Amino acid sequence: SSDDEGGEEYLFKIVIIGDSAVGKSNLLSRYARNEFNLHSKATIGVEFQTQSMEIDGKEVKAQIWDTAGQERFRAVTSAYYRGAVGALIVYDISRRTTFNSVDRWLEELKTHSDTTVARMLVGNKCDLENIRDVSVEEGKSLAEAEGLFFMETSALDSTNVKKAFEIVIREIY
Ligand code: GTP
Ligand code: MG
Repeated sequence: SSDDEGGEEYLFKIVIIGDSAVGKSNLLSRYARNEFNLHSKATIGVEFQTQSMEIDGKEVKAQIWDTAGQERFRAVTSAYYRGAVGALIVYDISRRTTFNSVDRWLEELKTHSDTTVARMLVGNKCDLENIRDVSVEEGKSLAEAEGLFFMETSALDSTNVKKAFEIVIREIY
């Protein structure tokens, strides 16, 4: 925290994880800049954005980290998770393989971070209802079994994007 104008400031690190092409980078750009890219390239290494919100009259800043889903493009794993107090674990509701990977991502998160991390399971691309491959119920019950928050989102049409991040940020705060 710092002392700008006498007020207190909070900075939280949040990580986004999940298989390649589930929409991690677009969730972040939609939340932080209200931007969406239909032809975004796979992330190489690590990127982050800082986003502020106000809770109980205090400015809360989230530093949100995004890395590659593809193993060969990933940032150094331990450094990526270091200090994280929140995590979004993302899958694509139109590709079951990405849902099956959630266990593996949760395992990696457990290995590299604190048990107190606020975790949100995110089923992204809910605009693709016509080619849905994972039901809402399946997402919900996995989240319940693992003790995670759950939300379906669409970075494309903005559904629940702000909500998903802000629930995690509020939980940390
Ligand atoms: P890596 O960086 O390789 O790990 O991928 P990523 O998870 O960051 O995926 P990215 O955000 O680059 O999105 C992959 C593709 O999915 C892009 O073509 C996006 O336009 C598309 N996409 C992302 N979010 C949505 C969504 O909510 N709905 C739909 N229909 N497409 C999406
Ligand atoms: Mg990316």
